Amino acid sequence: MSLHIKSVRVDLAGNTVLRNVDIILPEGETVAVVGRNGAGKTTLLRSIMGLVKLTSGQLLLDGRDIGTEPVYLRAAAGFGYAPEDRVIFPTLSVVQNMALPCEVQHVSKREIAQRIETVLAAMPQLKPMLPRSGAALSGGQGKMVALARALMVGTRFVLLDEPFQGLAPVVARQYGDSLRALRQSHPHLCVVITESNASLLEEVQSSTLYIERGYVTADRLDVLHNPPPMDMALTA
Ligand SMILES: Nc1ncnc2c1ncn2[C@@H]1O[C@H](COP(=O)(O)OP(=O)(O)O)[C@@H](O)[C@H]1O
Ligand SMILES: [Mg+2]
Repeated sequence: MSLHIKSVRVDLAGNTVLRNVDIILPEGETVAVVGRNGAGKTTLLRSIMGLVKLTSGQLLLDGRDIGTEPVYLRAAAGFGYAPEDRVIFPTLSVVQNMALPCEVQHVSKREIAQRIETVLAAMPQLKPMLPRSGAALSGGQGKMVALARALMVGTRFVLLDEPFQGLAPVVARQYGDSLRALRQSHPHLCVVITESNASLLEEVQSSTLYIERGYVTADRLDVLHNPPPMDMALTA
């Protein structure tokens, strides 16, 4: 089981932001996507979620193209997303913040309770925070809650946009520990983590991809020495 991002191109406002992206995201892996600001990391995650329209290409989930399906169907297919600017609802408690995306999907109360238990197994430090108001969280705690919330719907894929950015070192280590614990509690889950600063990654990834000017490759040197031609998109 995997997601094959096949020959994907995304144009935004007349610019090609993703070009010829051809990668496979396999279950059970933690894939880091490393690239500088403006490389296309957020756009890649947003295209997987359906928040950005593909100009061409396919997203093959176990062979079925979900590339034109609306966001809610992708969430229902088990995709969870924690955007860079995590939005924690301040008027809701932490546990309500976690349950919300499942409620939107009409997941049963019993299933929601079960998922919360599973998430807490990987992130026990969240337990005492559950009744707390979303407004009372520190930046680091907010990132933890955003991860937990993404895991509530992301039963197959969890996409984390620069989660380590701005975390104090001790919180970053905790966050890294939670991601490693997920490997035990969610062995089939595919976690995708973008980062502009690879040294922040806490060695959580099982593989690393590099993104440069919208082109994704497993081999960093290739990209640096043979940058894809800028007009590739025009001939695609
Ligand atoms: N909605 C948009 N409209 C036009 N251009 C965009 C839009 N979103 C992103 N871009 C451009 O796409 C490129 C990649 O952006 P982004 O995916 O946010 O990169 P990253 O997350 O790696 O910093 C940038 O050049 C950015 O200016
Ligand atoms: Mg970004």
